[in-house]
Amino acid sequence: MRIAVIGTGYVGLVTGTCFAEVGIDVTCIDIDAKKIENLKQGILPIYEPGLEEMVQRNTLKERLSFSTDLPASIQGCDAAFIAVGTPPGEDGSADLKYVLAVARAIGQNMTNYMVVVTKSTVPVGTANKVRAAIEEELAARGENIAFDVASNPEFLKEGAAINDFLKPDRIVVGVASEKAEEVMKKLYKPFLMNGHPLIFMDIPSAEMTKYAANAMLATKISFMNDIANLCEIMGADVNMVRKGIGSDARIGNKFIYPGIGYGGSCFPKDVKALIRTAGENGYEMRVLKSVEEVNENQKSVLFNKINTHYNGELAGKTFAVWGLSFKPKTDDMREAPSLVIIQKLLEQGAKVKAYDPVAMEEARHTLGDSIEYGKDEYETLIDADALLLVTEWPEFRSPNFTVVKKLMKEKVVFDGRNIYDATEMCEKGFTYYGIGIKR
Ligand code: UGA
Repeated sequence: MRIAVIGTGYVGLVTGTCFAEVGIDVTCIDIDAKKIENLKQGILPIYEPGLEEMVQRNTLKERLSFSTDLPASIQGCDAAFIAVGTPPGEDGSADLKYVLAVARAIGQNMTNYMVVVTKSTVPVGTANKVRAAIEEELAARGENIAFDVASNPEFLKEGAAINDFLKPDRIVVGVASEKAEEVMKKLYKPFLMNGHPLIFMDIPSAEMTKYAANAMLATKISFMNDIANLCEIMGADVNMVRKGIGSDARIGNKFIYPGIGYGGSCFPKDVKALIRTAGENGYEMRVLKSVEEVNENQKSVLFNKINTHYNGELAGKTFAVWGLSFKPKTDDMREAPSLVIIQKLLEQGAKVKAYDPVAMEEARHTLGDSIEYGKDEYETLIDADALLLVTEWPEFRSPNFTVVKKLMKEKVVFDGRNIYDATEMCEKGFTYYGIGIKR
């Protein structure tokens, strides 16, 4: 089989590479010539564990190629996956200009039947707009080539993208014809070895599934953050409460870790977009509005603890920050809680020295020289008044606390992810603050 994947961002690159990995002939297309040149040489625009090797291996085997030439690359394809960006517009709704421009380009150039699949996260109704755009272009050419549209939302997580794609919990495909269903079944057969389902449904339901999944996960997190804040007030320990409720299979033990709010390119954007879509159609998403509000507040929780500890006198204090990316195993800093915390500290005249295992370049790009950067986690601690654990990278989980103590001026730790044990930290001589635990 042969496919084209248009857009070499996170989703497009992982999708194209993983389809190539199972033996499908894939061309990844992008209008950014520099990006394509780099990809041809195995240089990736993003950091994702294992992806670089997989791109290089499949390029060598000639199952994966990269091109800026959409008209030539879609010829003879069984399917074209649209995986370009859908940035939030000023009003919070997803901007479809890139998706529809690709649809038009496909309509202008296709010469055989294919399934045009939306892989980007797009609002309900987008596949119909894609169909209309292609039909319009075909009509302008005086052509009557058959095609189908399909919606195939992606559920992969940054940092675990390859595993999520190769061994998915489920694959959701919205189709409107048996022919499209057949093509999609053939393409995804190699990914169903673990017995998890390929679920076919109508197109609007598939489009809605993507938003509902992310909104549900965001809701779990905000709910737990709310509970954590109440635990602190009531003298309970959210770590215990989490274990206590998580062992109920109906609740489940995943995505109930409290922290300093969810970030990244997906949850914040998708929650906003769903609230917006509902509003435009005369419905109010009351739960989701609260989910968003709780999340905004939660990004300030760590700063509030710091501010209280120092009685609002932060000027001249130095804070070591461990972790800048919105979560471990990615260099992505979009909507990262670290940005809110650092901004607030700087506003109060404090100094920040930060370290992240992979997001240093991204951080320099975003934060410039408003903060200092450590060579490693230990270097950030020299003469620090406190350590802020912001992203739970594995390498921060078990540091040499004797060295940590020696390097720091004051032995105070603010743990935004509850990765350290409160009792042990106190025994080691630290003043320790976690999220949702009594002090
Ligand atoms: C999320 C979804 O998990 C994917 O299924 C989806 O495909 C993706 O969005 C998308 O729409 O593209 P991602 O944004 O990569 O994936 O990151 P997650 O691992 O879901 O984490 C999101 C945020 O929630 C992070 O800031 C993380 O720290 C936070 N989180 C997660 C918590 O605060 N507590 C938890 O228990 C879990």
